[in-house]
Amino acid sequence: MKNRRLLLLCVWLCIGSISLANNLQSKKSDSQRERICLNTGWRFQKNDPEGVTERLDYARLKPYLLPWANDFIKTGKKYDRPAGNPGSTHPYAKADFDDSSWRKLNLPHDWAIEGPFNIDYEGSTGKLPYWGIAWYRRSFDLEADDAEKRIYLDIDGAMSYSSVWCNGNYVGGWPYGYASYRLDLTPYVKAGKKNVLAIRLDNPDKSSRWYPGAGIYRNVWLVKTSSVHVAQWGTFVKNNKVSDKEAVMDMSVSLINHGKDKVKAVVVNDIYEADETGAPKGGIVASVSEKNVELRGKLPTELQFKFSVKSPKLWDIESPNRYVAVTRVNVSGKEIDSYHTIFGIRNAEFIPGKGFVLNGRVVPLKGICMHHDLGALGTAFNEVAAERQFRIMKEIGVNAIRTSHNPPAPEIVELCDRLGLLMQIESFDTWRRGKLKNDYCKLFDEWHEADMRSIVRHYRNHPAVIMWSIGNEMPDQMTADGIKIASDLTSFCHDEDPTRPTTFGSNRPKAFMKEIVNGVDIWGINYQIGQYGKFKEANPGKMFHGSETASAISSRGEYFFPVNRKRGESSRNFQQSSYDMVAVPWGCPPEAQFRTNENNPESFGEFVWTGFDYLGEPTPYNEDLTNILNFTDPKEQEKARKELETLGKIKTPSRSSYFGIVDLCGFPKDRYYCYKSYWRPEIPTLHILPHWNWPERVGEITPVHIYTSGDEVELFLNGKSQGKRKKENRYDRLIWEDVLYQPGELKAVAYKEGKKWAEQIMKTTGEAARIKMSPEKSVLKNDGYDLIYVRVDIQDKNGLTVPRSKNLLKFSVSGPVEIVATDNGDATSLKPFNTPEKEAYNGLCLVIVRALPGKTGDAVLKVDSSGLPAEQVNLKVISDTGN
Ligand code: GAL
Repeated sequence: MKNRRLLLLCVWLCIGSISLANNLQSKKSDSQRERICLNTGWRFQKNDPEGVTERLDYARLKPYLLPWANDFIKTGKKYDRPAGNPGSTHPYAKADFDDSSWRKLNLPHDWAIEGPFNIDYEGSTGKLPYWGIAWYRRSFDLEADDAEKRIYLDIDGAMSYSSVWCNGNYVGGWPYGYASYRLDLTPYVKAGKKNVLAIRLDNPDKSSRWYPGAGIYRNVWLVKTSSVHVAQWGTFVKNNKVSDKEAVMDMSVSLINHGKDKVKAVVVNDIYEADETGAPKGGIVASVSEKNVELRGKLPTELQFKFSVKSPKLWDIESPNRYVAVTRVNVSGKEIDSYHTIFGIRNAEFIPGKGFVLNGRVVPLKGICMHHDLGALGTAFNEVAAERQFRIMKEIGVNAIRTSHNPPAPEIVELCDRLGLLMQIESFDTWRRGKLKNDYCKLFDEWHEADMRSIVRHYRNHPAVIMWSIGNEMPDQMTADGIKIASDLTSFCHDEDPTRPTTFGSNRPKAFMKEIVNGVDIWGINYQIGQYGKFKEANPGKMFHGSETASAISSRGEYFFPVNRKRGESSRNFQQSSYDMVAVPWGCPPEAQFRTNENNPESFGEFVWTGFDYLGEPTPYNEDLTNILNFTDPKEQEKARKELETLGKIKTPSRSSYFGIVDLCGFPKDRYYCYKSYWRPEIPTLHILPHWNWPERVGEITPVHIYTSGDEVELFLNGKSQGKRKKENRYDRLIWEDVLYQPGELKAVAYKEGKKWAEQIMKTTGEAARIKMSPEKSVLKNDGYDLIYVRVDIQDKNGLTVPRSKNLLKFSVSGPVEIVATDNGDATSLKPFNTPEKEAYNGLCLVIVRALPGKTGDAVLKVDSSGLPAEQVNLKVISDTGN
């Protein structure tokens, strides 16, 4: 009972995006370990105040930051902390600074997503101001009996160059904005008292090729332990020999004794099956212990165990079963620490000639690359939003995620474990040679070992993770230095985790012929579909995959004529045609990649660039162009002409990418059905494009394309057959080149092996007549982070979505909810996300609603739009305990 109450208390404390699996360890057992979420009650302020003279830039702070890397350095020199207290003259760092006028907020928080968008910013920024200094402050209480404990601060991610002060003392920090890291607050805290944290971030401009976000954008935790405890990420459960009958597992446990004196301990590992949340379920399935453990003062100790599980329930993409090892440390008959390691039992092998083999069967990777932003929510991590992204991707058959080009939030890895998605966790987008002035190249020399090792140590227990990527398209890949870096990084990965291979995403065919190929266990080819053969010739037997593929570009619901493979004709108004006939020069349409995969069975799969559209990198509109005078609207043409006359360029409005299989809202583009047809051939998919509202094209050639999992389709226009088309290859789309547009009805009937397989009708719609709101669910928890996504369709009087409608929608709510963001998937929309007003884009809009913390009851989301009847949906807010 006591435990249950305390667990509820912890859940209540943890307002923010918290996975239940994480909460597992916030339970206070008899052990002294507690994990308390510190997401609520922060004060926030941009910039340093006027008149501060003390320098707090990286060059000054570096000697104080580097010692925090020591736990992750095994090859180079370790760092000693210099004397001194940087920031002692800075008012915001002081314990007694009055921050009551600062903005109050909860984490995770991305301050840059609030914008405003600025058309003058470079495409890579997402037109959002992510650079600059910001401060976060918060206090927390410690109990008197915390005096003997270790007190840690765990920051899952802060963008970037974070520095932490505790009670006015400089503690330290970590510069890489994607790193999860721990600081030991023990020397600076006061037990039985209020303690003050001040965190300063200093996000450089020109540091990212995409929108990186800004702020403390992941969860923050306070961890209390006894002075003897399991080290940070200190356990590793490895599959040794796995069969249906028995799994033999190796387990290492790293303990740390912060006291001066030697301590004798008993260490017990009890293994349970894990439930959905990662908590132990049922009885103990295996147990292994060590009775006489001697822990020397001030030193770590590593213990090795072996245990076996009879008739193990394997982790698989179809059945993501997990186990949890509960490690208990007993000293003088008292349990002083208890640590949970969630793991999976599975056989994951990369076998030349076969491919990726999971539990004995070949599983080709149907993967996608994902950046870390959550569209309209920016980068502030939210597990509900992330799970929605993954579920949308699973729907088309995705079975693998590449976290391009950086380590993810911890909950992402847990989600993949839970949903049965394989993972390639990537570390860096640059090594020593940068792509941008202020990117990771600034940190590489001093931090790469610590960053690489910490990623692997953090995530090596997760069954979803099948390989470590040591980098993406490094400019150093062609150099002798690059060869050395690759083999160093690989050796760090192997040292932390001998069970998984390393890989690297290479975009340079010349690199395929270099020794760098031997610097990783398996090779990744980004694009370069014409080079697969050469790679195989030069590197016989070396395993490889398409680490980045396609980079097809399209805007949902946009179609341009004539339909052909000319890049220039596929693009108007800063939008890309959804006929998907072209890709960027280095990429290819999806079907060309499928063909390449089929012709090269040695490649064990692909990771499409990208699953979702993302903020920043709006290729091909990364830069202002002078030659885009192909606007379709004469008023826009005139505006552009004047702009060109005055500025010598036309301002580029694009703020997000065109690469996604779905748009920034998660709404399917046509390509979604291409992937679904090919990746899930067992599902009867049939998709017609374009839409059939072309009053200006009556009598003109309007090609019809169809994606289907069938093998043959007959197309009818207003009842008249346009002929049957048969696929030659499984990946083919079917094309009717010469359809002359007449309004009415397109009907397609698909066949598979001669039998009817699917049917779809696409009708010319009437005028917009009503609005339909479709919430993805109607009950919302008031934990401060549960979300409801509501899709909004502009429809004609018969309930058909009107394809080119752009009606302005005004949303309002009553009851205990708020609108967090609106979006429409239009990459050129510079309207803020956090406003309740948005135009529909090609018939659709999205509104994201959250409950007000602590309140329950009925709520209403309403939408008004000039000329259309108002519409509303009822929502219900319950407490986060489910009442
Ligand atoms: C790749 C790169 C990605 C993205 C993509 C766009 O070369 O690795 O980060 O920029 O191109 O096509």
